[in-house]
Amino acid sequence: MTKKYYLTTPIYYTNQAPHIGTAYTTIAADILARYYRQQGEKVLFLTGTDEHGEKIAQAAKEQNKSPQEFVDQIVEKFKQTWQALNISYDDFIRTTQPRHQQSVNKFINLLNQKGAIYQDDYQALYCQGCEDFIFKKDLVDGKCPYHDKEPELIKEKNYFFKLQDYLPQVKELIQKDKILIQPQERKKEVLGLLKEDLGNLSVSRQRVTWGIPVPFDKKQCIYVWMEALQNYISAIGYGRDEEKFNQFWPADLHLIGKDILKFHAIFWPALLLAVGLEVPKRIFAHGFFTVNGQKMSKSLANVVDPVELVNQYGADVIRYYILREIPFGHDGDFSIKRLKERYTADLANGLGNLVSRVLTLSEKVKARPNKELTQEFNQQVQETREKYQQAMKQLKFNEALEAIWKLISYCDEFIEQKKPWELIQQDQAKAKDLLANLLFVIQEINSLISCFLPETAAKIEKQIKENKKGEILFPRLEE
Ligand code: MSP
Repeated sequence: MTKKYYLTTPIYYTNQAPHIGTAYTTIAADILARYYRQQGEKVLFLTGTDEHGEKIAQAAKEQNKSPQEFVDQIVEKFKQTWQALNISYDDFIRTTQPRHQQSVNKFINLLNQKGAIYQDDYQALYCQGCEDFIFKKDLVDGKCPYHDKEPELIKEKNYFFKLQDYLPQVKELIQKDKILIQPQERKKEVLGLLKEDLGNLSVSRQRVTWGIPVPFDKKQCIYVWMEALQNYISAIGYGRDEEKFNQFWPADLHLIGKDILKFHAIFWPALLLAVGLEVPKRIFAHGFFTVNGQKMSKSLANVVDPVELVNQYGADVIRYYILREIPFGHDGDFSIKRLKERYTADLANGLGNLVSRVLTLSEKVKARPNKELTQEFNQQVQETREKYQQAMKQLKFNEALEAIWKLISYCDEFIEQKKPWELIQQDQAKAKDLLANLLFVIQEINSLISCFLPETAAKIEKQIKENKKGEILFPRLEE
């Protein structure tokens, strides 16, 4: 039976168009989805949008639009961006869809029936940017460190989730890697958080009207994080399509940024335990990056639009650069200067040049790929495959790419030594054999790069099939 692989990205807030930060998680998820499909698994790759809450209602108001009208427009931008970046998602969930609301209602009712919800008067600091309550101790100069804004004091009568009841079990699951939190530092961070007072977890908000009403008290709306997390089960039919739900749940991987670790690694498993559902198998939190050395912010006008980048360099280049440059899981910097350097060194002079050299010559002697490799060549290919597989399983994308590029360099050196362009004059049969091997290795390289560079891989495949050097894969950049 084929194995299933259910992987998700966070659902993104629709208060602003996608930027290179949100594209980062989505590109990484796409690479994994393509990788697992290639391994023959039944993949369900989910992404989507988080459309309720104060922050979004506010953004709509600023543009004199109704929240629904406003989010519909932003969602189109997300879809266009993902298309431009060749994101092969299987499902796109919107929290304003009826299917989501149905599942959420079922979940909240069940939480209530299980006695996991209580009501309380509440007073706390709230950061609209985070859509989360914030402790005084976490403020920097009185402001939220993520959004550089002062939180507001909120006094409300709310419903709450009995978080504390489930924390010992969550802790044990994390300690035993039943919920595998990666990288290792993030697991430590979560276990550290579990030692502190995590406060309460709100189920509802009183003042907020742009949201899903609490099914047993329509005067309140469900707190946006509470329903957002449930997208991971509502998309696969929780409470509506039990067969599909049972086929895909639990998630094999929630891919997130480090900013939303607490919600995914603590609150989400606690909620699932409370209603008797299985917890996700693995959560991987990647780092944050700056743009040209600066924090991304609208006021600095350095919020990079991924579609503009695609128009300028092509989707594959962005996908390659962003995962080759920043070790996944670490913080890093997105810089156009480095993107151009990598483009020239790795793509134009590396991959592009190898394919062009080999195809120019193989066209002349009508060589076809031949897998009977010399022992040394064979060993290089095997080693690359193994390193690649290992790296991909650990989400070390940069190491996977590094392994492939080592094989590319090996081929370059091989060509320099054997000089097939001279051999063609002296011994055509020998030259043909040699090129047949090189074509085979390029095919191998192509299958390994295809989840990172799908457009390029399709072009290379076509060139090999037709045995004809086609368009230049990575033209020189104009200064
Ligand atoms: N709506 C919530 C998530 C709910 S999931 C149930 C949310 N949305 S968000 O639009 O703010 O997107 C957050 C995600 O975008 C981060 O987790 C991260 O994946 C990505 N990034 C946003 N800015 C980023 C950087 N500067 N660098 C890297 N990733 C960034 O939070």
